[in-house]
Amino acid sequence: MAGRYGHGMTLYYSSDDKDLVRDKFDLPLVEAVARRKEGKLRYFGLPGEDALDLQSWGSLCDYVAAVEFSRERFQTVKHVLRTQFGSIRHRAHLGDVDKVILRNRSGIPPTEFVSTTNRPGAGYIWDFDVIYLDYFGKFLPYERGGAEVRNRANALRRLFAPDRQDGWQPWLLMLTVESRLFGPNDREQMRQFLSASKEESDDETQKAIDFLLDETVSTREQAARLVHGTLSYILAVAASNSDVRVYPKPTMLYRGANNTPMLHFAYEVTPAGLLSGSQPVLPLLRSPLLRVRDDHAEPWFELLSSQPPGQTNSSLRATLDFLDEGQIEQIV
Ligand SMILES: C[S@@+](CC[C@H](N)C(=O)[O-])C[C@H]1O[C@@H](n2cnc3c(N)ncnc32)[C@H](O)[C@@H]1O
Repeated sequence: MAGRYGHGMTLYYSSDDKDLVRDKFDLPLVEAVARRKEGKLRYFGLPGEDALDLQSWGSLCDYVAAVEFSRERFQTVKHVLRTQFGSIRHRAHLGDVDKVILRNRSGIPPTEFVSTTNRPGAGYIWDFDVIYLDYFGKFLPYERGGAEVRNRANALRRLFAPDRQDGWQPWLLMLTVESRLFGPNDREQMRQFLSASKEESDDETQKAIDFLLDETVSTREQAARLVHGTLSYILAVAASNSDVRVYPKPTMLYRGANNTPMLHFAYEVTPAGLLSGSQPVLPLLRSPLLRVRDDHAEPWFELLSSQPPGQTNSSLRATLDFLDEGQIEQIV
């Protein structure tokens, strides 16, 4: 499926690249989470009107909390969940997903709030296994003002708040955003953020940041690197504050609807357990940059020709561990 029109306006949700990312990357990743859990999954995210994500891996889920900010599409999302995914327990929430996440408080009944489990003593708790923020638009929407940017960053941090997630339970976070810089402001904000982080960093981390700040590569790749770096820092700090560890999967560059350059991120989040100290940012900064192959042929994805410094064969393989051995061999 290469896209769709609807309700008199362009509502392209998908592309051939995205279909591949969903079926050949996300599906095995979600399957790995289900195997580890030995049970069905609870999904919080933005399935949209076509719910193509649920078409691909919905059979692995037994609960879906779907958020939708368009009033019109919200009705369709509810209808689709009821008619096509009736066997999955579900709930639809109208609103901007960042605000829905920020409004949510554990322990409050889910008439207004999003949660999965009512645990005696604890009340309603947030314990989703898969959180997929398949946003419209850019990662940090600077053009919509500081409050929107803060909401986005705070919503991501809030996902890691200790009262949100059972401390013992691993979960999967996926995000997609447009890989575009909207004017110099965008670029400068992220560059400043990464440059400031560099000052307090060790040599290896500084080298990784220099790679991400390189202005000699294409604009598309610059945008990808800046978002990759900024998100890495936000998540590393959030994880450090909540005693979990974040294991990055490769950052995927692909063409979305209308040929829009897109980025897809995936992270496994697990309890820190006996590991002490804070979440190191370096593994996130160094995670591989992958792209969908132009010919859409197996192994579907390939490494970009230039990669963050310091990767080793084993660190590279570890980020791809949910794929078939044969596919990993071809990619590496
Ligand atoms: C990209 S589509 C979802 C596609 C689906 N996940 C898939 O795999 O094909 C995103 C859906 O979420 C809605 N949406 C986008 N950004 C949102 C936000 N910040 N808050 C709430 N809904 C949002 C859009 O209206 C759209 O219906």
